[in-house]
Amino acid sequence: MSRKKIAIIGGGQIGGVLTQLIAQKQLGDVVLFDIVQDMPQGKTLDIAEAARVDLFDVNIKGTNDYQDISGADIIIITAGLPRKPGMSRDDLLTTNAQIMKTVAENIKKFAPNSIAIIISNPLDAMVTLFTKVTGFPTNRVVGQAGILDSSRFATFIAWELGVSVKDINALVLGGHGDTMVPIVRYANVNGIPVMELLEKKYNDKTKAKEVMTALVERTKQAGGEVVKLLKTGSAFYSPSSSAIAMTEAIIYDEKRVLPVCAYLNGEYGVKGYFVGVPAVLGANGVEKIIEFALNEEEQSLLNNSVNAVKSLVVDMERLGF
Ligand code: APR
Repeated sequence: MSRKKIAIIGGGQIGGVLTQLIAQKQLGDVVLFDIVQDMPQGKTLDIAEAARVDLFDVNIKGTNDYQDISGADIIIITAGLPRKPGMSRDDLLTTNAQIMKTVAENIKKFAPNSIAIIISNPLDAMVTLFTKVTGFPTNRVVGQAGILDSSRFATFIAWELGVSVKDINALVLGGHGDTMVPIVRYANVNGIPVMELLEKKYNDKTKAKEVMTALVERTKQAGGEVVKLLKTGSAFYSPSSSAIAMTEAIIYDEKRVLPVCAYLNGEYGVKGYFVGVPAVLGANGVEKIIEFALNEEEQSLLNNSVNAVKSLVVDMERLGF
């Protein structure tokens, strides 16, 4: 089996961690593209020089020339500005839409058969714009958000219950913004409902609910919590790990069921928008949207989140994209 070619557009914080993880896991050869002269070349040289220690032998190349991404199987897009303290993801719209437009035009030209994983924010709008510019079929465009949001939710639950995060299943749906929808009803520890364990812990249903509400709120604000502490950028380790899980699912045709930003064609009552939902990821990208019954409250929260995505897309179109 020949090695896959993975191109990363944007060699900043996320681009660098992605490159290192791909090399360490030997997922494929990497091309790291950035517009900043020499920087991607420097980063890839640094990472490549750890090959003897980490024992990987994939090829890693830094570049400022889009030609080098030719024939890539997978493209991971991280290009764009990250948030500063006090900014919402949506505040990045104008700048990052301009960047995404150029990136998408070049991917259309040089890697027209690739599967694109998008990380740049505001995520739901960037995925929409990328698809519009490239004309890629929607199974080959997917956004990274839900895996990270779900992992954050799982982490906070694990800390609260004092159990291993490995045994937590927690799902977050909706847009990648403040309206995201952590699904409390199905959060479980190896099948045992988290709410039941919280009620046991506190011996008080109201207190258990309050604790869960705090976990949900922290999940929704988790990206901002990191931005506030970092002061000079946004989260980059956990978004990178999340995009790697998606890359592995595609490369190894794993058919994993992962929450991702995918195109909906009527599922969950949404038509024509990219929204975070569980989907099967395999060799063909987004192979299937997994639909499950939401209760009235969950559906109304999801509708609210979808409305936020729609208004972001409308804003972007008003800006001429
Ligand atoms: N083409 C390619 N790369 C670009 C372009 C462009 N037109 N414009 C900017 N870049 C590069 C920058 O030079 C920088 O190296 O994108 C990189 C972004 O890196 P960081 O600023 O370190 O941001 P990072 O933390 O990696 O986040 C990237 O992901 O999570 C989102 O909100 C985040 O939108 C942001 C993106």
